[in-house]
Amino acid sequence: MKNYDSSQHVQGTSLFLDDMTPPEGTLVAFVAYSKVAHGKIEGLYTAAALGVKGVKAVLTAKDIPGENQIGGILKDEELLAHDKVDFIGQPVALVIAENKLQAAKAARLITMDISPLPAVFTPREAYALGSLIMPPKIFSLGDIVEGFTTADVIVEGVVESGGQEHLYLETQCAMAVPSEGGSLKIFSSTQGPTVVQRVVAGVLGMPMHKIEVDVTRLGGGFGGKEDQASAWAALAALAAWKLKKSVKLVLPRQEDMRMTGKRHPYSSDFKIGLKIDGTIVAFEATYYQNAGASADLSPAILERTLFHATNGYYIPNVKATAVSCKTNLPPNTAFRGFGGPQGIFVIEAAIYKAAEEMGIDPLLIQEKNLMKDGDEFPYGQIAEYFNLRKTFERACELYNLPEIKSKVKQFNRGQILRKKGVAVMPVCFGISFTTTFLNQASSLIHVYTDGSVSVNTAAIEMGQGVNAKIHNIVQKVLGCHPERIRIDTTNTSRIANTSATAASKGADLNGFAAKHAAEAIYERLKKVAAGLLGLAEEKNVTIKSEIVYNADSPTTLTWTELISKAYMQRVSLSAHAHHATPLIHYDKVAAKGRPFAYHVTGTAIVETTVDCLRGTYKIDSVKIVHDIGESLHHMVDLGQVEGALAQGIGWMTVEEVIYNNQGRLITDALSTYKVPDIHAAAQDVQIEFLENAPNPYGPLKSKAVGEPPLMYGIGAYFSIMNAIKAFRPGETFPITAPMSPERVLRYVCREEFAEMEQKELQL
Ligand code: MTE
Ligand code: HPA
Ligand code: MOS
Repeated sequence: MKNYDSSQHVQGTSLFLDDMTPPEGTLVAFVAYSKVAHGKIEGLYTAAALGVKGVKAVLTAKDIPGENQIGGILKDEELLAHDKVDFIGQPVALVIAENKLQAAKAARLITMDISPLPAVFTPREAYALGSLIMPPKIFSLGDIVEGFTTADVIVEGVVESGGQEHLYLETQCAMAVPSEGGSLKIFSSTQGPTVVQRVVAGVLGMPMHKIEVDVTRLGGGFGGKEDQASAWAALAALAAWKLKKSVKLVLPRQEDMRMTGKRHPYSSDFKIGLKIDGTIVAFEATYYQNAGASADLSPAILERTLFHATNGYYIPNVKATAVSCKTNLPPNTAFRGFGGPQGIFVIEAAIYKAAEEMGIDPLLIQEKNLMKDGDEFPYGQIAEYFNLRKTFERACELYNLPEIKSKVKQFNRGQILRKKGVAVMPVCFGISFTTTFLNQASSLIHVYTDGSVSVNTAAIEMGQGVNAKIHNIVQKVLGCHPERIRIDTTNTSRIANTSATAASKGADLNGFAAKHAAEAIYERLKKVAAGLLGLAEEKNVTIKSEIVYNADSPTTLTWTELISKAYMQRVSLSAHAHHATPLIHYDKVAAKGRPFAYHVTGTAIVETTVDCLRGTYKIDSVKIVHDIGESLHHMVDLGQVEGALAQGIGWMTVEEVIYNNQGRLITDALSTYKVPDIHAAAQDVQIEFLENAPNPYGPLKSKAVGEPPLMYGIGAYFSIMNAIKAFRPGETFPITAPMSPERVLRYVCREEFAEMEQKELQL
């Protein structure tokens, strides 16, 4: 059950872009970027850089032959700033030299005269100034005004959630190799080869067929390379086109952290109305998204926040308003969950605050309002094959929640300076690209005359194991030995018009496409086999472990013989297939439809211990019941749940992206940006996949896995909050993530900090 790549990985023989042997004479590019958050470029001085030994050229906006534009959803982002800069880290010039040291040195010598303009860094300030990416979006269900009139309890509040650095192990990189007739081959670390192809073609003013993009694998993407890999590929391509030489661009870690966008911070208002029994009758929320300086994927991310405004709860009256606010920070971008986590955090916070107000356990409100089959989401979709309640009940029973709670109580009674908390975290996540047309993929499979098989799809392997899953699917269909099947690189000349591997849809979409292509070949092989075996029809022919069977009896015909005979008979051993997710549709104007093929659900119980003297904490355990349908690959899926959980806990607890009041990122290295390490991860993780939950909408009845489990991490926030409240009974605290140890310390030592602040004021 090992991953497709694992033996190569542990031997160090897997090739990442920077490991590939570049063509002889390959040049190296480095980016010079703005040091000012907002301003007009008055002068750009490149002479000193050009004087550095080995430097071949310095390119600026003027050198771009096509359009100086890399925006996807909106055309609002220049590749190289030409007269105005909008954030610190924005590329302004490109230095190309013989080697890295020369290029880096020269890039540092490029200077700019920038006359500053007023800059804004928080979404609410931007909103007040009318600085928006696009007009606000609203989702509604029922009648919100009427809804609140029926409520016994109404609670309002503010919720803040922070950014998150992707920290893929492999930084952004690309290599462009000139080819015949002005065409280019681009090696790129991208989740979206077609995005790169389109952007490069646009920047160079060339048709897309002259640009071939090839991706072997990524050292992680996490959404950070869905849209933001194209700038670096386009810069390398521009240089390669200009100098007629191969050019490689690899961002150093710190530059990657400074120049690229992250998860969107949100600042949100909520108002929740409940009956005295805990039934939620109305929910209103406004989300202010910090988009950064250009749209990037922010509009789609904003929309997914709205899709997840009610998590997995049925609420009859909802009004959710989302505003994408333009600020002078690097454009924020896709990050595992794609706006969903930010939305889910707000509704969970609202439930938590309501429970606090009502003096009850939030669990009672959660449990009371879980959706069931037939309930309607605010966007009009009806819940179907919806297992949230099953996972919730199973988690409470399997892990014995009452016992966990009584142990926590007991512990807290016996301890003064250490307190435990527990929180239950139900999760519901919609599966499909919310941009409906992206829900398509294709596959091209070749069987060679020796019986070996090559599989092409649009899927990008970035550590999530999509290759292992596609490999399994093809092997199951064809019936040959697994060693015969190779998953080829993802290449735009072999597979065109790819959707990015994102939205957790990689294995779904490409798995289906590969299945269709493999089935087409299999059907042809069955016909050939029937002919060879002298059977009237192929209906009962199957291939298992490379033996051809007639009904259930093995014949003497083997895989390699069959392939060779099929070739001799001039039967095609290649197939191309396309898959488009059926049934989905969405009306963006009405904000109604059936945007998702299905939902992934699950429930986590999170236990934590807080050291109330130091503000430090431990995640004691996370116990999960998760709906995976029928898993395509048990080990890979377990790994995905564990990884997403760690990343979610990181976002909610230790990871903190901080810009100073000039818009400069001060957490731009691993010494200042804390990621969850072995101590910060949960000490005990238990995961059960819900049994007997086949998903009719997934390949081989599976469900997508990549993003949903990240949101279990939100439980860590409320679990720590509960521990703090055990130490400070009766007090309330703002809902601001991350719950960093510094913040915990301020909460547990409130008086002491108030006193210190008072003294500081007096000084
Ligand atoms: N797992 C690893 N190891 N590395 C990654 O970059 N990206 C995540 C998730 N799991 C990622 C990962 C994100 S953001 C998504 S959308 C999915 O994988 C994409 O892959 P899939 O659709 O094949 O699950
Ligand atoms: N997820 C990820 N990427 C996307 C989506 C989505 O829902 N929609 C458009 N791009
Ligand atoms: Mo994932 S954020 O959809 O790449």
